[in-house]
Amino acid sequence: MRIPPFGVERWFVQYEFKVSHNIAESCIQPFTIRELCELCGSDPAEFLDTRVGYADGLGGIELREAIAALYPDTGPDNVLVTTGAIEANFLVAQALLRPGDRAVVEFPAYQQLYSVPASTGAEVRLWELHEDRGYRPDFDWLESLAPKGEKLRLLTVNHPHNPSGAGLDADGMSRLVAMTEARGAYLHSDEVYRGLTLDQGTVPTPSAREFSDRAIVVGSMSKAWGLSGARIGWIAGPADVVRRCGEIRDYVSICPSACGERLALMALRNGGPVMDRNRRLARRNFALLRGFLERNSDILACPLPAEGVVAFPSYAVAASPGRLLASRALCGRLADQHGVLLVPGECFEREYHFRIGFGYETRILEEGLESLERFLRCLLSGQ
Ligand SMILES: Cc1ncc(COP(=O)(O)O)c(C=O)c1O
Repeated sequence: MRIPPFGVERWFVQYEFKVSHNIAESCIQPFTIRELCELCGSDPAEFLDTRVGYADGLGGIELREAIAALYPDTGPDNVLVTTGAIEANFLVAQALLRPGDRAVVEFPAYQQLYSVPASTGAEVRLWELHEDRGYRPDFDWLESLAPKGEKLRLLTVNHPHNPSGAGLDADGMSRLVAMTEARGAYLHSDEVYRGLTLDQGTVPTPSAREFSDRAIVVGSMSKAWGLSGARIGWIAGPADVVRRCGEIRDYVSICPSACGERLALMALRNGGPVMDRNRRLARRNFALLRGFLERNSDILACPLPAEGVVAFPSYAVAASPGRLLASRALCGRLADQHGVLLVPGECFEREYHFRIGFGYETRILEEGLESLERFLRCLLSGQ
């Protein structure tokens, strides 16, 4: 397999556990087991009886049923529980793509969404989303990348979008579904950021499975649910595709984690209080981010995110007169000198941007933003 290093994950390996103020993460603040149990009315001591053995290779039936219930016309045979969404996306590309196939993938994106398809030998065409359109899809451009009558195997999209936090409305999602179906292609919709709308009035991004039972949806307990360490994700799609993904997974991870499954099931069965806790935190922190962006609008431009806990500002801070400071240098200096972590735009192949994650503890975000603001102002004044 020929595949380039995964920029954003290499960056986290370098810095994640060395900084004091991580404001780069794309998840809501993860639960402790105690906190989750208290919120769900379970006794944490019951966890001591969890048998730490291999789990069902497809994912336990109760968990598959709970996941299936998130989508219309979806049963447990349409669901494969995976080791995070990262395994799910990997399996979908491996199951569906062959050398010579064509895939269209939205861009900028979480790198695996285009690097894994390219590693299969498929031809990957990038469908760019633009900052000046608020990262909303340009369907005319999509038509030109995948004209009717030409082969298309897979269209991969990610809404709510990483790194911008842009959502997609029902009309947009139904157009994606119609476009892929008209070409006999599969829609692969990475929906890991669904569920955390940032304003009360925002209509949540719908799932592609609300429009077609041929859609292949990838979901996760990591981002909106606050259980990234449980390492539980899933594929919900046509039973034959799900079965093929399971056959490949046998070679990768055998089965999901039994402990992770138990935590995921508890959270899904108590979705109301769990998502209330997460949405409250996301909205409180979003207000801080908005204030920060408004105060610094002379040097930062950023379409406001709608859903999820990431945003992707572009900056205008010069390294020397007329030359902008590259994102890796800017974020590296901020992490090394001030212990504050962002993700450089370079990891998304978009220079002079950084991704900020605002889902973690409010105090950490507040202090991190203060340091970042001081740092940017110092750079600007040439200190
Ligand atoms: C769009 C997208 N898909 C999948 C993943 C992987 O998530 P998980 O923790 O469920 O493996 C990420 C993680 O950042 C992501 O941003």
